[in-house]
Amino acid sequence: MIRDLSDAEARAALVCKWGEVDADVLPAWVAEMDYAPAPPITERLQRAVAAGMTGYPRLGRGGELGRAYAGFAARQFDHEVDPEQVVPTVDVTAGVRIALEVLAPPGGVVFPVPGYSPQLEIAAIAGRRRHDLVVDPDAERAELDLDRLGAHFRDGARVLLLTQPHNPWGRVFTRAELEGVRDVCRRHGAFVVSDEIHAPLTLDGREHVPYLAVDGTADHAVAVVAASKAFNIAGLKCAQLVTASPDLHRRLVEAPMARNDSWSVLGVEASVAAYDEGDAWLDALRARLTAQRDLLLDLLAEHLPAARMRPLEATYLAWLDLRAYGHDDPAAVALERGRVRVAPGHDYHPGLPGHVRLNIATSPERLTEVVRRLAGAVSRP
Ligand SMILES: Cc1ncc(COP(=O)(O)O)c(C=O)c1O
Repeated sequence: MIRDLSDAEARAALVCKWGEVDADVLPAWVAEMDYAPAPPITERLQRAVAAGMTGYPRLGRGGELGRAYAGFAARQFDHEVDPEQVVPTVDVTAGVRIALEVLAPPGGVVFPVPGYSPQLEIAAIAGRRRHDLVVDPDAERAELDLDRLGAHFRDGARVLLLTQPHNPWGRVFTRAELEGVRDVCRRHGAFVVSDEIHAPLTLDGREHVPYLAVDGTADHAVAVVAASKAFNIAGLKCAQLVTASPDLHRRLVEAPMARNDSWSVLGVEASVAAYDEGDAWLDALRARLTAQRDLLLDLLAEHLPAARMRPLEATYLAWLDLRAYGHDDPAAVALERGRVRVAPGHDYHPGLPGHVRLNIATSPERLTEVVRRLAGAVSRP
């Protein structure tokens, strides 16, 4: 069911991932998958384009998109969402910014680090101070340190920008962990923006618990979700802000149009197709990514035995600690010597040497070649 793109197809389709690198470079950096989109999505898009559906989307909340997302959340996460409280927005990055500007109380933003690199700047863009909640690179398991979270709130932060499942930690937070976060946030009157773009991408049959599915979170949280990452449709520009509080919802829909008016009609069409008709494809994708993760572990054992990788519980983005090989910037070494592009760890954790983020959403053959090239490059001093 998952169709691998050939190199020529991938180069034509994924103009960022494949187009931003020289022809002899294997790309394993930006979070896009080298797979053809799910057939229900392409079919619906073809029908929409043939019908001349290239104008503005329907305005406002709920509608078909709200119904489709609520159905998907019920089936995939056993989570009841009010379809009316699903508000479209252009993408997750914009959704997080809108949440900060429209919903979150004034104050600093706690950001778990390493974290999705563009979001390192989001607090400053919103005119707020960033409080880094840093995971020790030597920690056995990447966890949210609740004592330090509380200390940041005492120090002036009022918002937690949570990413869950986490990129690049690869963690699926348990309900108990999220309850711990909720308790600290409630104690300090803090607000949570929960970026759940990777929610459908859990591996090994793990369950994603939406933050809003945890009791007692409705009054202090918004989720930013999208079909874009799991279904490879980021270029179509449609994400959703989900609330479970009439008051937060009212504030979102009453925000001036200029804050939130640029999601696309084709993005809505593709998202509805993904949410309504994508379950079987998604099952196949998760099985493929789980196999890719297992293959990566075998490849690391063979070619990069000194690499450290925490268990990858979700996403197709592996976080590799290559400090044992002695390069400050192994991504630069890999590109120069190995002609393979992985993402530098310091983009996600400023100042952190020796780490890379590697995208495994490709064919087994390409993943094998990626690791072989990476190993050949960094194994030399
Ligand atoms: C955690 C996280 N949030 C947001 C994004 C970006 O989403 P968008 O393209 O919808 O802005 C990504 C992209 O990989 C991501 O990993």
